[in-house]
Amino acid sequence: MAAATPADVPVPEGLPLELLEGLASGVALEAARLIVEERPDSLGVARTKSSATDVVTVMDQRAQDLLLERLRSARPEDGFLGEEEGGGSGTSGVTWVVDPIDGTVNYLYGIPAYAVSVAAVVGDPSVPGGWRPVAGAVADPERGQLFHARLGGGAWRVDGGGEPQRLRVGDQADLSQALVGSGFGYEAAVRVWQTRVLLEVIPQIRDIRRIGSAALDLCHVADGGLDAYFERGLNEWDMAAGWLVLTEAGGRFGGLDGSPADSRMVVAATPGLFTALDEAVTAAVASVGPLT
Ligand code: IPD
Ligand code: CA
Ligand code: CA
Repeated sequence: MAAATPADVPVPEGLPLELLEGLASGVALEAARLIVEERPDSLGVARTKSSATDVVTVMDQRAQDLLLERLRSARPEDGFLGEEEGGGSGTSGVTWVVDPIDGTVNYLYGIPAYAVSVAAVVGDPSVPGGWRPVAGAVADPERGQLFHARLGGGAWRVDGGGEPQRLRVGDQADLSQALVGSGFGYEAAVRVWQTRVLLEVIPQIRDIRRIGSAALDLCHVADGGLDAYFERGLNEWDMAAGWLVLTEAGGRFGGLDGSPADSRMVVAATPGLFTALDEAVTAAVASVGPLT
């Protein structure tokens, strides 16, 4: 039976967390190099997914293929869940949940805010609340930054190959002073609903940022570059690695009104802001009404 909350999902004994963290970091960096160095001169849209604006470039698929190949050869018994085509279940109890390019629209337009996100998770990532990350990495090739974490090992950022810096969320506790990240989905009706929710929240905060990569948004809450973040409609691969980086940096991560984070809502914040933001978003969602 599925666990009710991520905290209930057991971590198999003897899992080599340090090895998984190192593997996530190594493959995320390799895929990040690939998407920068082998970006074609005329990068086109190879296909679309949920809507005409939900694009897949040839580099999304190539980066995912590289991640799958590297992870399969290092850990053949693990499962693999990626945003693009390919993958499958495993037998070890670990599944790699990857987003080969988080921030594809930025990548397509040459806006320098995209990342490769790689996480090892336990539980069943297809069950909301029934899984959790145990190791992960987010590589930001434009800033030359690598964020990585493992359960109980702290969250770290490496800038340009230098010494890892331990991350700690900021200490903002006043919602009216909070800089909050958010984002919008690819379907027009969802974006309209998200905008209506945002209209209710925005008068209560300092300002909003729509950076365009959920994985980076979460890592930036972890390193104090943002105070908080919320978004509806995230997939497991958008949140898996950033979730662990954030919580290992002392941040809080959840869904609406005490429920686990899932595609309905992710709320992430400094401990001092989490409850106030969660209440503000919960009230906004109640006032706007369900997304039909
Ligand atoms: C998207 C980005 C974006 C978020 C969207 C995601 P993609 O992922 O993370 O910031 O607002 O909800 O789908 O499509 O670039 O991998
Ligand atoms: Ca994504
Ligand atoms: Ca993606």
